[in-house]
Amino acid sequence: MTYLEAEKMLKSCGQEHVLAYYKKLSKKAQGELLKQVSTIEPKNVKYCAEALKKGGDKIDSSKGKAPKVAVLKGAALKKAIEAGEKELKAGKVAALLVAGGQGSRLGYDGPKGCYSIGPITGEPLFYFHARKILARSIRYGKPIPFYVMTSEANNAATVKCFEENDYFGLDPKDVFFFTQGMWPGMTAEGKIILDEPGHVFMSPDGHGGLLAALKRSGALADMKKRGISSVFFFQVDNPLVEIADPAFIGYHVMEKSEYSLKLCAKRDPYEKVGMPMKFPSGEYRMVEYTEMSDEQCNRKDKSGKLYFLYGSPAIHVFDRAFLEREASKNMPLHLAFKKIPTVVDGKVVKPDAPNGYKFEKFIFDILPNAKRAAFLAFDQKEEFSPVKNAEGNDSPATCKADMIAKWAKWMEKAGVSVKEGVPLEIDPVYALDAEELVKMGVWLSVY
Ligand code: UTP
Repeated sequence: MTYLEAEKMLKSCGQEHVLAYYKKLSKKAQGELLKQVSTIEPKNVKYCAEALKKGGDKIDSSKGKAPKVAVLKGAALKKAIEAGEKELKAGKVAALLVAGGQGSRLGYDGPKGCYSIGPITGEPLFYFHARKILARSIRYGKPIPFYVMTSEANNAATVKCFEENDYFGLDPKDVFFFTQGMWPGMTAEGKIILDEPGHVFMSPDGHGGLLAALKRSGALADMKKRGISSVFFFQVDNPLVEIADPAFIGYHVMEKSEYSLKLCAKRDPYEKVGMPMKFPSGEYRMVEYTEMSDEQCNRKDKSGKLYFLYGSPAIHVFDRAFLEREASKNMPLHLAFKKIPTVVDGKVVKPDAPNGYKFEKFIFDILPNAKRAAFLAFDQKEEFSPVKNAEGNDSPATCKADMIAKWAKWMEKAGVSVKEGVPLEIDPVYALDAEELVKMGVWLSVY
């Protein structure tokens, strides 16, 4: 992009101040600023400025009702598993991982997926995801293409981690990396913020940036070419997730759902998970925990159980055609008011109080657009233990303990009792579930 092109584009959306210091920059810095400006789309700038005027998109949750959540058992479970296995054997299932986050709470300097979590081997989070996908594809005789969303900040390190580990056994042609977008930060008046004279402050566009990134990168087209119809979505920080499990895939297919969610019972009324609700006009929406009233958090049903019991840990199955339909639409924006370094009279000033807005999109905001949605309950202990914080709740320590507890139950089924406190680890390719461990037998390796 040339200076004149940049000037014209920025003028078209009222942001020409971005070039205020251009003439004073070195040739190299000028080139870098123009490159950055070329990634900014005027229509997105206008969209962000409008969202600021409205104060962001918020939901009035007061009219929301709890959705019907299926708990599959016996014959119903068997039927769902059969339907899921059929989909897997037909090669119609893909895995989609969002791994573009900054992991600021964990405070790890690198992509969160490279964080060591194996209780014995110290293998990273990516290892457990990739090995589960490999195991599942071996079991059903068809590849499960793996789409990994990264960010500009962590893409190179993510790809390197896969390369150095021989893709954890996956065929590289079945692994597709793509990068989410970055959006400029703005003042309350809708002006793009420069955090250096030759640099625009930009931040990742949130996990909802997935849709635009899937389209832009050609990942959606690749899915279509491969004949994918069910897309299993998960987050990088949860090594307990049962990727592309047949019961969930099958339930999604049987319900002819466009967007299916696995939900688990909240551990306490204020647990910080999103809550899908049904609204009077018939659509479902995800209500964030911050948007629920005290009364809603504590409301009980006739049997004394929490009325809004089932929260979403972001484990989904999407219909591929639904993703395609949604990918060209604008998504709601969520605003975060933050301290952002700003250039004043050519000098960088670090503010003491929030002074600017970041914009994020959330994937669950497409839920109301689904013609059909389905909700399936699962046991939190079995499938959800995220690594969010460095210590305390949802930390590496709690996650490793939950991984070990899950494997210990499999070992018991295989006839081996495990003493508490003894570390355990099972390669998903050796055994993907308790039944497989029983079949394979337990051979102990000593490290
Ligand atoms: P979180 O909301 O936990 O954010 O992301 P985070 O960045 O990992 O961690 P903190 O909040 O900075 O501590 C949930 C999932 O969404 C992905 C993350 O990689 C994680 O898998 N994500 C989040 C993205 O892919 N892009 C984003 O912009 C944000």
